[in-house]
Amino acid sequence: MADKLIIFDTTLRDGEQSPGASMTRDEKLRIARQLERLKVDVIEAGFAASSNGDFECVQAIARAIKDSTVCSLARANDRDIARAAEALQDSANARIHLFIATSPLHMEKKLRMTPDEVFEQARLSVRFARNLRDDIEFSAEDGYRSDIDFLARICETVIDEGATTINIPDTVGYAIPELYGNFLKTLREKVPNSDKVVWSVHCHNDLGMAVANSLAGVKIGGARQVECTINGLGERAGNCSLEEVVMAVKTRKDYFGLDVGIDTTQILAASKMVSSTTGFVVQPNKAVVGANAFAHASGIHQDGVLKARDTYEIMRAEDVGWSANKIVLGKLSGRNAFKQRLQELGVMLESESEIMTAFAKFKELADRKSEIFDEDILALVSDERIAPGHEQYGFVSLSQASETGERPHAEIVFTIAGKEVRGHAEGNGPVDASLKAIESHVQSGAEMVLYSVNAISGSTDAQGEVTVRLQNSGRVVNGVGADPDIVVASAKAYLSALNKLHSKVETVAAQG
Ligand code: KIV
Ligand code: ZN
Repeated sequence: MADKLIIFDTTLRDGEQSPGASMTRDEKLRIARQLERLKVDVIEAGFAASSNGDFECVQAIARAIKDSTVCSLARANDRDIARAAEALQDSANARIHLFIATSPLHMEKKLRMTPDEVFEQARLSVRFARNLRDDIEFSAEDGYRSDIDFLARICETVIDEGATTINIPDTVGYAIPELYGNFLKTLREKVPNSDKVVWSVHCHNDLGMAVANSLAGVKIGGARQVECTINGLGERAGNCSLEEVVMAVKTRKDYFGLDVGIDTTQILAASKMVSSTTGFVVQPNKAVVGANAFAHASGIHQDGVLKARDTYEIMRAEDVGWSANKIVLGKLSGRNAFKQRLQELGVMLESESEIMTAFAKFKELADRKSEIFDEDILALVSDERIAPGHEQYGFVSLSQASETGERPHAEIVFTIAGKEVRGHAEGNGPVDASLKAIESHVQSGAEMVLYSVNAISGSTDAQGEVTVRLQNSGRVVNGVGADPDIVVASAKAYLSALNKLHSKVETVAAQG
C-alpha cells in the first residue's frame, strides 16, 4: 500500500492572516464544515490565545467537526498552549501546534533570545503541551533559514519530549524546490529519532514556488504532511495551494506514489466558499479552480478534446467539482426541494425560520431569474448568515436613476435596528450614490479598501456578487451581497459590511 500524504489545511489560521481576509465565527464554521466534507486530515482552526474571538472560533470548530483533526496554533509558551488546549477540550481528535523561530535573524532581532534559550523554550513547551494532549506539532518558524545543525538538535529534543509532527516552514518564501527538498532530507538524516514523527512542509509563495517547494519537500525530503490553504490564501503572496498540491500528487501518482484522502469533488465548492467569504477573487487562469482551468478556446484543442479527451486534459473537470452549469431549481420548485439542495450543497441553516427566510428569498429571485444555479443558492444563503433577523442594518428597497450627462442619484430604504429609514444622495455613479445614501444616515466613518463585482454564473443575466471591504479603527471586514441588479448587490454588500463592523465579533487576524 502507498504511503499516505496528510493534508493539513490552514485557511482559517494562516490564510486568515492575509490582510482583509478576516472572517467571522459563523463564516469560519461554515468553511470548516466544507473542509471536513473535503476530507482534509487536519483543520487548523485558528490561534486560540491571540484573541477571545479566535478562541471562540477554535472552540466552536472543535465542537462541530468530527471527521478531521482540529488544531490550534500556539506560541511556545505555557499560557498560549493552555489556551489552545482549553479551546480544543471538547474535541476527540485535537492537535496543539506550537512554534518558535529558529533562524539566527528571527532569534536575535525578533525574539531577542539566544539559541540556547530558544532550545530550552522549545523543549519545555513541548513537554508542557504533551501533558495536555497526545497529538503535538512543533514548528520551527523560519526553519529553512536556520542553521541545520542547531535545527537538528532542537528537532531531536522535541521528538524526545513527545512531539508527533515536526514542521519545517519556509516562512518567507525564500526556498528553491531542489534546495528545500535536500535541506529537509539532510535534516532528517541528522536527527537520530526522525522516524518517530511525521515530517511536514509549510511553504509561502513569495517567489511563486510554494507548491513546487512543498512537492520537493515531499519527494526529496520525505515529508508526509503538507500545510496548505484553499486558493493559496495567505499573507503576502499566500501559502501553498491545497487544490494544486492535491491534484499534483493525485494526477502524478506514478511519480509520487502517495495516497491522499481528499474528496476532490469538493474542491471547487471549497474554493468558491473561501473566495466569496473573503472577497479574494480567484484569477481565471488559476490552476484547478480558475474559471478557465478546463476551458479549451482554440479550435485545435477543442477538436482534440472531442476526439479523445486526454489529448489536452490531464484531469477531469468533474473530479474537482466542475459540472456543466445545470439548472438546479426553478420558480416551481418547492420548499422541500430547496431544503434538500441546501443539504447537498452542505449548507446547514440552523433553524426553520432561517430556512423559511432563505426560501422566501429564493422565490423572489426565481421570479426575476428563470434559471437558478448552485452558485445562486450559495450566494443567497450567504446573506442569511450573520445573526439572521438581528442585524443592525437591513436592506429594504432601492431606486436609482442615471442618464448620460446627468449626475446619478439614488434613494434607498433600509432598516436601522428594525426601524425603516430613507436616504437620498447623488454620486459619481449609481453605486456611489447608493452607498452615499446609506452613509447619509449611518455616518460610519469607515474607509472602503476594496470594491469588486463578479458575475456569479458567467453571463449578463447572472446575479452580480459584490464584495465590499471596510476598514475602521483597525478592524477590517468584508461584506458580500448578491442580486441580479449590481447596484442593489452593492448596497446589500455595504450593509453587510456595516453589520460586521457594528457587531462585537472579533475579526482582527491572528499574528503568527
Ligand atoms: O509561516 C510560518 O512559519 C508559520 C508558522 C507559525 C507555522 O505560519
Ligand atoms: Zn505560515
